[in-house]
Amino acid sequence: MASSTSTNTWVKSQILPLSSSTRSNNSANRRRTNYITCSLQVQTPSLVRIPQHTNTTPTYQAPTTINPIPKIKTPKDHSSKNTNSLPNQQWNLLQRAAAAALDAAETALVARERRHPLPKTADPRVQIAGNFAPVPEQPVQHSLPVTGKIPNCIEGVYVRNGANPHYEPVAGHHFFDGDGMVHAVKFNDGAASYACRFTETKRLVQERALGRPVFPKAIGELHGHSGIARLLLFYARGLFGLVDASHGMGVANAGLVYFNRHLLAMSEDDLPYHVRVTPTGDLKTVDRFDFNGQLKSAMIAHPKLDPVSGELFALSYDVIKKPYLKYFKFSTDGKKSDDVEIPIDQPTMMHDFAITENFVVIPDQQVVFKLQEMIRGGSPVVFDKNKTSRFGVLDKNAKGEKDIKWIEAPDCFCFHLWNAWEEPESDEIVVIGSCMTPADSIFNECEESLKSVLSEIRLNLKTGKSTRRPIITDSEQVNLEAGMVNRNRLGRKTRFAYLALAEPWPKVSGFAKVDLFTGQVTKYLYGDQRFGGEPLFLPRDSDINSSSEEDDGYILAFVHDEKEWKSQLQIINAMNMKLEASIDLPSRVPYGFHGTFISSKDLEKQM
Ligand SMILES: [Fe+2]
Repeated sequence: MASSTSTNTWVKSQILPLSSSTRSNNSANRRRTNYITCSLQVQTPSLVRIPQHTNTTPTYQAPTTINPIPKIKTPKDHSSKNTNSLPNQQWNLLQRAAAAALDAAETALVARERRHPLPKTADPRVQIAGNFAPVPEQPVQHSLPVTGKIPNCIEGVYVRNGANPHYEPVAGHHFFDGDGMVHAVKFNDGAASYACRFTETKRLVQERALGRPVFPKAIGELHGHSGIARLLLFYARGLFGLVDASHGMGVANAGLVYFNRHLLAMSEDDLPYHVRVTPTGDLKTVDRFDFNGQLKSAMIAHPKLDPVSGELFALSYDVIKKPYLKYFKFSTDGKKSDDVEIPIDQPTMMHDFAITENFVVIPDQQVVFKLQEMIRGGSPVVFDKNKTSRFGVLDKNAKGEKDIKWIEAPDCFCFHLWNAWEEPESDEIVVIGSCMTPADSIFNECEESLKSVLSEIRLNLKTGKSTRRPIITDSEQVNLEAGMVNRNRLGRKTRFAYLALAEPWPKVSGFAKVDLFTGQVTKYLYGDQRFGGEPLFLPRDSDINSSSEEDDGYILAFVHDEKEWKSQLQIINAMNMKLEASIDLPSRVPYGFHGTFISSKDLEKQM
């Protein structure tokens, strides 16, 4: 069973970074031995652990041959009690027989998979090495040590989402596949507390009840014939009532938004999950959130909150059936508009989009889903070289798609868009994003190193043409990914963006304040062997009508010291880029994805 006896061998192997040459040369050997050594090993074993599962005594036990890797004895799991588990202890004879047969089939599948090395993009020993490795939940801890002074205006909670696999992977695993975990630092009168909790998704709750992972991992497992076999196994388990996918399969690990008194944790493969910040600063999953029955399809993890109207704008994409893309919005009190179906020829990855004062800007780019590629042995996430990237500009209040204006932007792939605004004097929409090459390198192994170029893309609504230019000069070019502009000015012309210095990729060595008008870059580096993730910009004044300067605020960033193996939250003054305060955290915070800040005033109104 995946959660029972254990040693620390697997976790050691998972957390220890490899040099790339070691990775490529020895991958087959590693798969046989399941063991890696590294200088970090001596510093980390007591700190990196896979959460233990104390809330169930499942009758469903994975065949021991599925996971022959011994496991670490893990610390007490503080997970919320499972209140929604499958009635697996009441399976009938047919179900038990089916479960045994499907387990045997899975054992055979895993044994076959282990005869071949995994690509780096699906190898858990690469994907969740070092501080990408998961941590157990932590109940709230108060009065954390603070160096410096927390600015008076920071009252509320900083929450950040991330991928944190609850169970060790039995086969392929991509970093994006992990279960959602939210980390929360709450500020109250100059003091800070910290907690982290899994988001109790339907899949996690069921896997806990079963005591092992059974839901397919969208990127790490679903490629080639093995991926098809895993899908068939999953559907067969569903047919026999051993798992239930009818309430979603998402991991809720990517984005966070606070809207209409709800904190929502999101991934683009499912509905959001409502998570509540408790008065003490802890986190509690309320439920999968369908906006009171209004939302019936997945929603992307980067909905856009308009700072002026207070409306929330979102997309939904489908990888199997038409319509492949829908746009909708929510009024400030949470009333959803009708879906606007946007016709596109093929299912396309749309991780992000942008808003302006009057429009939504929708990227229709070259990373698409071709499920038939699995039959040919490949990944269903592919770069379509025959497609021309384009942006769709649609009125925010559109009732239908007929007025969408598509403007081509060849060879442009932006995983994220940081902002967009209108320049009526030139009939242009200006889009700020990081153009990534190779476009699919996050998902598919390739030799070319990743480049992420902060770019200004101009879409001319009159001529239907686009232009694109790098914002930073060639000599200063640096990979910039994950970040934001002042959220009080989203959709309006902004001068500054705060973006992660994504080097050495995929680590983040600091962040940059970029003057989007001049290209000037001011860097803040975390220091030797210290890395972080998305910098959050918190305006000093939450009033959007405030006359304060655009950069009058603070950057909040989790920073992990890989020498000391300790994590901090740092607060940096965005005007002068000086450190104001650092908060020592009681446990490691893995590198993660996106966050937001909820003011204490908003927290009081929380549902
Ligand atoms: Fe994202």
